Amino acid sequence: MRKKLLLGNWKMNKTVAEAKEFALASREIALYAAEHDILVGVAPTYLSLAAMKENSRGFIVAAQNCHFETSGAFTGEVSIPMLKELGIDWVIVGHSERRMYDNETSEKCCKKIHALLENDMIPVYCVGETLSEFEAGKTKEVVERQIRKGLADLCPKCVRKVVIAYEPVWSIGTGKNASTEIAEDVCAFIRGIVREMYAGADEEIMILYGGSVKPENVKGYLRQEDVDGALVGGASLKIDSFTAMVKNLAE
Ligand code: PGA
Repeated sequence: MRKKLLLGNWKMNKTVAEAKEFALASREIALYAAEHDILVGVAPTYLSLAAMKENSRGFIVAAQNCHFETSGAFTGEVSIPMLKELGIDWVIVGHSERRMYDNETSEKCCKKIHALLENDMIPVYCVGETLSEFEAGKTKEVVERQIRKGLADLCPKCVRKVVIAYEPVWSIGTGKNASTEIAEDVCAFIRGIVREMYAGADEEIMILYGGSVKPENVKGYLRQEDVDGALVGGASLKIDSFTAMVKNLAE
């Protein structure tokens, strides 16, 4: 049985003090989530990882990115050993904003996923089509390419640890969420590709939907057979709406 996962992506929001405030406030809902078998967590900026880790309880603390090299001349980057030292073992890879603004390709994501799995960490690999690709009916073509390139040549045993997030770019931060039918259709399609690539892993791999998820619609997505959780931006920033999402899922 795959667990349910609610992961917040804070992007470039919240100072360290604000993250700490959220972490302290999150203890109660983390306990409630654990009682209901729901995994919960957030990905703050690098600066707030330590504060989140220290002040939260039972919360997954994820990084929003990492470099695939261990160390070296890569100004502005953060490596996997640096994250591990803080006790971080979840990392978002290939978020559409990084693909858009930071030239993050699926090939580069693949290197990061390899490095993360070698270090026994959990990559949350984001895929999804742009609005023009959606309108041109190319969703599955785009997503299949991203999955095949990003998850290429992984060890079949470790691939089960990868979490995939399907996030249509046109639904991120726009309030125009994909219908539950679209989410299920694409997540099931992704599971099928994983089956072709790594038979057996498809049953275990968690697939999330992301894009304008909020308390009112989260349950509809999680009811879908192939949607195991949600990656949430805006609605994860306030403890009240985070709490409401968990409660709605648990009902
Ligand atoms: P959103 O962002 O929930 O604000 O649409 C989702 C994401 O970017 O992961």
